[in-house]
Amino acid sequence: MSATPNRPIRLAPSILASDFGRLAEEVAAVAEAGADWIHVDVMDGHFVPNLTLGPVVVEAVRAATSLPLDVHLMIEAPERSLESYIAAGADRVGVHVETCPHLHRTLAQIREAGARNCVVLNPSTPAAAVEPVLSEADQVLVMSVNPGFGGQRFIEGSLPKIAQLRRWIDERELDVEIEVDGGIGPGTIGRAAAAGANVFVAGTAVFGKPDYAAALADLRKEAEGATA
Ligand code: DX5
Ligand code: ZN
Repeated sequence: MSATPNRPIRLAPSILASDFGRLAEEVAAVAEAGADWIHVDVMDGHFVPNLTLGPVVVEAVRAATSLPLDVHLMIEAPERSLESYIAAGADRVGVHVETCPHLHRTLAQIREAGARNCVVLNPSTPAAAVEPVLSEADQVLVMSVNPGFGGQRFIEGSLPKIAQLRRWIDERELDVEIEVDGGIGPGTIGRAAAAGANVFVAGTAVFGKPDYAAALADLRKEAEGATA
């Protein structure tokens, strides 16, 4: 199974690995270097053991680029604050299955507020948890590390999960992006693409490199090679 031809490869550098003291410059630099989306990791110190940023910083990122902002909410009760991220400039808003007892309603709430929705699965959550809402989703994000920190090792069990989701989406002829986040870099991006993902978050593999354009070009080449 591979990404379908109408699903272009999207590279979404995660600003978590950027220099926050120079955030606007870092965002502009990856945009210039060939990023397709900017991935913004929001962590609340409760759902995940790390605390990052809120809507005010999303607004600053919005002002620094015209690229789509892919905002990943690793927060409890996202339905209470997701509108504030959309007002700040989020184009896509991801909520974790594990934080949404009323997932179907929360996905509709994101669309009603004017953004694309994304449903996110932790490594220990099976693909079956999102199967009932696939027809209501714009995007599914398979976490390939336990969320909270950058620079972790890719969890191999993510690959069959991506492949299962790709099968369901293709069989039903749905228009749903499959995104993968965590440990994506040379050696893992191609395998995730071959399994059926088409959106790739990369933090360390972009911001950890001296030449962002070369890093993004290498990642794109490996992903495209795996789906050709
Ligand atoms: C982890 C975040 C990721 C993280 C990825 O909780 O959701 O977006 O920044 O970092 P790397 O690419 O370094 O694994
Ligand atoms: Zn993320």
